[in-house]
Amino acid sequence: MSQTDGALLEVRGICKQFPGVVALDNVNLTLNHAEVLAVIGENGAGKSTLMKILAGVEHPGAGEIRIEGRPVNVDSVTRATELGIALIHQELNLHDNLDIGANVFLGREPRWSSFLPLIDFPTLYRETETILRRLGLDCSPRTLVRNLPVAQQQMVEIAKALSVNARILIMDEPTSSLSQHETEQLFHVIRDLKTQGVSVVYISHRLGEVKEIADRVLALRDGKNAGELAREEINHDHMVKLMVGRDLVQFYVHTPHDPGKTVLEVERLVTPAHPAHEISFTLRTGEIVGLAGLVGAGRTELARVLFGVERPLAGRVRLNGAEIHLSSPREAIQAGLALVPEDRKQQGLILEMAVRENISLAALDRYQTASLIRRDEEWRLAQRLTGQLRIRTPSIEQEVQYLSGGNQQKVILAKWLSLRPLVLILDEPTRGLDVGAKREIYGLMEELAKEGVAILMISSELQEILGMSDRVLVMHEGRLAGELPRDRLSEESIMHLATGAAA
Ligand SMILES: Nc1ncnc2c1ncn2[C@@H]1O[C@H](COP(=O)(O)OP(=O)(O)OP(=O)(O)O)[C@@H](O)[C@H]1O
Ligand SMILES: [Mg+2]
Repeated sequence: MSQTDGALLEVRGICKQFPGVVALDNVNLTLNHAEVLAVIGENGAGKSTLMKILAGVEHPGAGEIRIEGRPVNVDSVTRATELGIALIHQELNLHDNLDIGANVFLGREPRWSSFLPLIDFPTLYRETETILRRLGLDCSPRTLVRNLPVAQQQMVEIAKALSVNARILIMDEPTSSLSQHETEQLFHVIRDLKTQGVSVVYISHRLGEVKEIADRVLALRDGKNAGELAREEINHDHMVKLMVGRDLVQFYVHTPHDPGKTVLEVERLVTPAHPAHEISFTLRTGEIVGLAGLVGAGRTELARVLFGVERPLAGRVRLNGAEIHLSSPREAIQAGLALVPEDRKQQGLILEMAVRENISLAALDRYQTASLIRRDEEWRLAQRLTGQLRIRTPSIEQEVQYLSGGNQQKVILAKWLSLRPLVLILDEPTRGLDVGAKREIYGLMEELAKEGVAILMISSELQEILGMSDRVLVMHEGRLAGELPRDRLSEESIMHLATGAAA
C-alpha cells in the first residue's frame, strides 16, 4: 500500500492535449476525506479541463485516477455519478424553459413505480424543495428557471449536484455571480457537507474566498502542478506567487488624473426598474468613476438605460453638450458609448466564430470602407488586443468556444475596447479573471483614461473601486446615495452609503 493510502481521490500523471494546446501535463492531485481542496491558477492554466476529466466529460491522454485506492475508469458522466463525483460547471448548464424541480431531477425523475413509468411530481417537487431550503432559497420549485436572476440560477446548479448525493463535489467558480450573502450561504452549505463526509474541490479566482473556505490549496500553472499550500500557509501573497510564479507588486496601476471637460451629463434620469428615483451625475473626459453599491442597487439597470438597451421613463442625457435619445445599443455605439455587460455569456460572444471575428464584431461599422482595408484593420486590431490582454489562444483564428472561461471574457472586453468610445461603461469588468489578467485590465483602463475616454466602472469588489477610481458614485435601492471624491474614499465611507446611511 502506498503512503497516500487513505485518500479519497488520487490523480496521478494526468495529461491532456487539444490541437495546438497542452492543457494538462503530468498533473497530480490528492483529495482527502471531508476536506475542501481549492484549485487555483491563471486563466487557461487547466483547472476546468482537469475537473472535466474527473467528471467524465473529457478523457485524459494519459494518467490514472484512484478512488479509495482502487483504479477507476471515469469514461462517462454516468460513470462519474455512480462513483459519487458531481461537477458544477463554470458556465451555467440549465434548461431555462423548465422549472427548478425539472432541472434538478432532469433525466433522473422519480417514478410512481417501475410498472407505471410516470413521473412522480409530488416527490420531485418535495425533494427539490428540501434541497432549496438547505441552500437557503425560499422560491418555489415550480419557478421557471428563466425567471430567476443569474445568482439563483447558480444555486439551482448547486441543488442539482446535491440531489445526486455526491461524495466528491466539484465546484468550478460557483460564486462568480453570487452576492456576498449568497456566497456566505454557499459556504455554510459546504461546511455542512464536510461534516457529512463530503469532499469539495473548489475553484475560484476570489482569493479571499479561498482563504476562508479551503483546507488546502493546489495551484496549476501552464497545465502543470505549481505547488500546494497547507491550511496555515494560505494567504493572498502565497497564492499569487504560486499562480503567477512571481510576486505581483503594485497591483493597482492607477494614478489620479486631472479630468477634462464634461462629456456625459445625466439629468434626473428615471429607470424602469426604480421609477421613484431620479439620477443625476456627470462624467468628464479622462476620469475613472467607480459606481459602487450592493447587488440589486440598480447599477446594472442604470448602465442598460444609458446604453439604450432600455428606455428611461424620464430625464435627459447629453453627450458632448447635445441631448441624445437612444433606442438601441446600436445607436449608443454610433453615438460613442460602449458597455461591457455583466452577463457576458449571453451578451457578447459568438462561440463558433474566431477570436479575430468576435473582437472586430462591434467595430465593423467603423471599417465600412473597402473590404480589403477592413480585413487588414480587423486583423491588426485583433492581434494588438489579444496581445495586450494576454488572451491565451494558439492563434486569433481559434474558435472562441475552445478558450478557457476567463479568456472568453477577455475576448468580450477586447471587443468593446476596440471601439475606442467616448464613454466606456464597464459592468464588473474583472469578474472571473485571474490576478494577472486583472492587472492587465487595470492597465488598459488607465491607458484609455489617459487618452481621454470617460470610464464608468461598476464593481462589487471594493478593493477594485478603491484602487482604480478618481471618484465614486454610490447607489442604494435605485437612487444615488452619494458621491465620494478620491480623498474621502475608504471601505467604510462606501459601505456607509451603500447600506443606506445618510451621506
Ligand atoms: N475543447 C478544447 N479545445 C481546444 N482547447 C481547449 C479546449 N478546452 C480547453 N482548451 C484549452 O486548454 C487550456 C486550459 O483551459 P481550461 O479551461 O482548463 O483553463 P482554466 O484554468 O479553467 O481557465 P479559467 O480560469 O479561464 O476558467 C486553455 O488554453 C484552453 O484554451
Ligand atoms: Mg475554467
